[in-house]
Amino acid sequence: MSSIRYYKRDSLPLEMHKVRIVQKLNLPTLEERLANVSEAGNNTFLLNNRDVFLDMLTDSGVNAMSDRQEAAMCTADDSYAGSETFVRHEKKLKEIFGMPYVLPFHQGRACENLLAQILVRPGTVVPMNYHFTTTKAHIMVQGGALEEIIMDKGLEVTSSDPFKGDMDPDKLKDVIKRWGVDNVAFVRMEAGTNLIGGQPISMANLKEISGICKDKGLTLVMDISLLADNLHFIKTREDAYKDKSIREITKEMVNLCDIVYYSARKLGCARGGGMCLKDSATYEKFKELIPLYEGFLTYGGMSVREIEAITVGLEETMDENMINQGPQFIEYMVNELDKRGIPVVTPAGGLGCHIDAMRFVDHIPQTEYPAGALASALYIISGIRGMERGTMSEQREEDGTETLANIELLRLALPRRVFTLSQIEYAIDRINWLYDNRHLVGGLKFTEEPRILRFFFGKLKPVSDWQERLAAKFKEDFGDSL
Ligand SMILES: Cc1ncc(COP(=O)(O)O)c(C=O)c1O
Repeated sequence: MSSIRYYKRDSLPLEMHKVRIVQKLNLPTLEERLANVSEAGNNTFLLNNRDVFLDMLTDSGVNAMSDRQEAAMCTADDSYAGSETFVRHEKKLKEIFGMPYVLPFHQGRACENLLAQILVRPGTVVPMNYHFTTTKAHIMVQGGALEEIIMDKGLEVTSSDPFKGDMDPDKLKDVIKRWGVDNVAFVRMEAGTNLIGGQPISMANLKEISGICKDKGLTLVMDISLLADNLHFIKTREDAYKDKSIREITKEMVNLCDIVYYSARKLGCARGGGMCLKDSATYEKFKELIPLYEGFLTYGGMSVREIEAITVGLEETMDENMINQGPQFIEYMVNELDKRGIPVVTPAGGLGCHIDAMRFVDHIPQTEYPAGALASALYIISGIRGMERGTMSEQREEDGTETLANIELLRLALPRRVFTLSQIEYAIDRINWLYDNRHLVGGLKFTEEPRILRFFFGKLKPVSDWQERLAAKFKEDFGDSL
């Protein structure tokens, strides 16, 4: 895809697949959208998909599957124990990742649950480049602490740094010194760092962190849920790897770690999860708990049909033309918004296009959830569903004070191979209009606030009648147009 040049126009992302199955979309009217968002408590997680035009909430479990994945699902072996499906799956994982032990999990957070149960105890710390919501919650439930030791550049929203997900090796050494090596439960690197805008880690940094862990006898765990994007970025942004195959880069990355785990709702484009381990004693500890929390060792809570799809999906992830579709569409959207002066996370990362809510609606204080307000406003004016990744996604302190997020992002995920370029153009157009009318967007406040992972089920209401005023302006500008 990347090697195609055009005759009389700038380059454009070009799909190396064709669409053979489609799903009809519905774009509700402005009045319906206003009612829907209110019913959903201004929480885009609580919207019904039938009321959503472009679902950019997440790429989790909603990437398009290939014809080969669909076909493989028909060959699944349903046996409870010793399923042939799992034999094929395990063989493929060992071949791609090169680790000797493989465990099935029903999804990514299930891996995090057992990681925390087995490796974390009260008084220990998990240093990581950056947290992911469910990872943090599982560590905290076990009484552990976490320290985010991303390089300072990682939190600069606008940047040209190619690897903003990198961990700061000096900060890691400092954490080890302050807590004592025995109190470091494990070190966690997240490939394609989700919450800072799908930003990759470099191989050079992973090597350095791995070296420190080996030196101190610490377990290095890598979350490879967003590995596909990260592989593309290492291949295209890290000079030493431009001539290496995706397969070689994968093996090299994984080999630097002791444990890798993933959400197969992302990696492998199906629905499930998995973990690969180097050490047999650690494997035995995890293995014991799989039948208790997940299911028998040869399905781990996943449908065998999904396992077949993941096996094929992982093989397809080794194809550059498959994994570059997401990053190239995202880059197009990010650059087009950037050209119009709209604040977005740069450079373009994986996963989706991330709008910097702190600058987009700089009149909304963090305590009124600017990224959440923007998600709500965008749905009202376009039917597009994004996801808040900011203070709403944080957890309050024990004493009730807000934990203000480092960055406030509205994430517009681009599930792989799902949207067309004209749908991306529609999104760009509506975001452009919203930016020009941003002064009309106001804040939100909680009316129902769960204690843990409040962003999933919490409900909020606008602090004023700003939503009606925004809708009225939309009507004035667009008339009867949806
Ligand atoms: C980096 C990362 N880790 C873990 C998870 C959790 O995976 P799951 O949703 O399959 O439980 C996700 C999900 O989005 C993720 O992005």
